[in-house]
Amino acid sequence: MLKRVDSQKFKEFNFQDFPDKNGRFGKFGGRFVAETLMPLLLDVEKEYEKAKKSAKFLNEIDYYFKNYVGRPSPLYFAERLSKKLNGAKIYFKRDELNHTGAHKINNCIGQVLLAKRMGKKRIVAETGAGQHGVATATVCALFNLKCIVYMGETDIKRQAPNVFKMKLLGADIISVKSGTATLKDAMNEALRDWVSNVNDTFYVIGTVAGPHPYPMMVRDFQSIIGKEAKQQILQLEKRLPNYLVACIGGGSNALGLFYPFLNDDVEIIGVEAGGKGVKSGKHAASISKGKPGFLHGNHTFLLQNKDGQIEDAHSISAGLDYPGIGPEHAWLKEIGRISYVNATDKEALEAFKLCTKLEGIIPALEPAHALSFLLKNKRKFSKKSLIIMNMCGRGDKDIYSIAEHLGMKI
Ligand SMILES: Cc1ncc(COP(=O)(O)O)c(C=O)c1O
Repeated sequence: MLKRVDSQKFKEFNFQDFPDKNGRFGKFGGRFVAETLMPLLLDVEKEYEKAKKSAKFLNEIDYYFKNYVGRPSPLYFAERLSKKLNGAKIYFKRDELNHTGAHKINNCIGQVLLAKRMGKKRIVAETGAGQHGVATATVCALFNLKCIVYMGETDIKRQAPNVFKMKLLGADIISVKSGTATLKDAMNEALRDWVSNVNDTFYVIGTVAGPHPYPMMVRDFQSIIGKEAKQQILQLEKRLPNYLVACIGGGSNALGLFYPFLNDDVEIIGVEAGGKGVKSGKHAASISKGKPGFLHGNHTFLLQNKDGQIEDAHSISAGLDYPGIGPEHAWLKEIGRISYVNATDKEALEAFKLCTKLEGIIPALEPAHALSFLLKNKRKFSKKSLIIMNMCGRGDKDIYSIAEHLGMKI
């Protein structure tokens, strides 16, 4: 159930001071890695701190956001869907219209430009839904860098269109067969690659997870979503929204939208994958149902058994199928700034169908989770409610798995 958050309480809160110099968000985050990785992370942190003060670097990002990604993405009033929400007005932040079809490219532009500044020639990445892999392969093609993408065998099967695109773009795809052969396992392998190829390689992490400085860096690059959305809603409606809603895998599209609003009187909701239902044990609701622990170099909420072993996540959507969550979200939950809820596979599929039919927008299965939360909770809204939902990806990548779920043939 959704607990009302008192956003007024956070008006003066110094969110910009987090993470601290050790990469901590309260007790979460940090840099829990093997000694061999430490110098690499310190190097990335040092270069990023310099780069974010460099007008040249920031202008370059702006240039590619505008001319290559297609920013700003529109803020679109979804009028027909709004009628299903008790008259509330729902706006979609349309990051699915970005080049490559999702928000992931915002972060890839930032990180690959940083890698170039550092003189790196080889890029490694992990991917689940393939969106981060495609975005990384795309930016590597643009800048003539070698690209290696680690992807779980299970995800390779369910995200065939993206695997094909990455190959066309010239990336080497390495199929990961360990564990559940999904995102967590791909990330383990990418980290291993990075330590073995110290000199020429940069690891582009696709979400606000991993060791410091990645959660902070990815958040900063994705914050363009919320900065634009704030300007756009003020222009369109002359006021801030009452609600922000986004789906959560590792949490990058959500934090990108939420971050610029954290001090505002806005209720913020993150929607995790409830899979086959949180009681079934087959879900990816790490923040709602997990416990604090350590994975991929940081302290955060994780799905784990009583011995602390990471449990398998499950979601219809490959992009949400991760047993952890970015550490800043763990902290935002703990301090009570954001509410975290979940939506099941079935509910997401229903929202997917409705959005396609009513708005002519075929969403990715990930944002369909965010939409299904709104539909499920429509009684909470009234004509006065103004909602921004992050439409963070388009559904092209999901057509084969959706056809299978709907019992249809392509
Ligand atoms: C379209 C889309 N949305 C959301 C996600 C989840 O990632 P995050 O929570 O980092 O935004 C993914 C991950 O692949 C994705 O492809």
